[in-house]
Amino acid sequence: MSENNIPTPHISAKRGDFAQTVIMPGDPQRSEFIAKTYLTDAKLVNNVRGIGGYTGLYKGKRVSVMASGMGQPSMGIYSYELFNFYDVDSIIRVGTCGSISKDLHARDMIIALGACTNGNYASQYRLPGTFCPTADFDLVQKAVCECERLKLRYKVGTVLSSDTFYDDSGSALEWAKMNVLGVEMEAAALYCNAARAGKRALCICTVSDSFIYPEENTTSEERLGAFTKMMEVALEIA
Ligand code: HPA
Repeated sequence: MSENNIPTPHISAKRGDFAQTVIMPGDPQRSEFIAKTYLTDAKLVNNVRGIGGYTGLYKGKRVSVMASGMGQPSMGIYSYELFNFYDVDSIIRVGTCGSISKDLHARDMIIALGACTNGNYASQYRLPGTFCPTADFDLVQKAVCECERLKLRYKVGTVLSSDTFYDDSGSALEWAKMNVLGVEMEAAALYCNAARAGKRALCICTVSDSFIYPEENTTSEERLGAFTKMMEVALEIA
């Protein structure tokens, strides 16, 4: 740990304020919801820019939850600081995605084994080829076991971490030709930071909208129910 970097430019928490595992939704309101619904003794450890970070107990186990904000630059900053300056070992992103697979419907879950991207986050590493941002196998395996136990509908596969939500080229479905399951905006940067720091990461997404079945798109209230299931999976494996 590099204590000299604490507090960081974006996190005001003190050394030891975060648990080894941090659950990361994109939205700060979801972070607060998770802390208040599932954690006992939850304490606010960060609120810089309204990025609520909480640490508490889930079934007696110490766990933190903090928002990532939207997009790879934002996820890149928070996951970098947690892994490299706060001694966090694992980050589990819990988010929503748009499905581009015929086999997935609204409220189904994707366990993101790998994250393709149209962004250039990994270019900073100056590798002599194309890096493959990948989840931690142990976390993937645990998430699969938990989905089976809870009898949830899920698929394991790749997602696209897109730098654009409103994409002028309308190219998201091109990725379906490569068997990519869904589109979100953060996993690739998270997986890059985990790899570079020698830490562990996983992204689990609930399908909030489908490029294939647009009539199934969920309202924010409907999403909350499905989101709750995904939270339970993340907290159980934390
Ligand atoms: N694109 C990117 N991110 C998303 C989407 C999408 O269609 N749906 C939910 N998150």
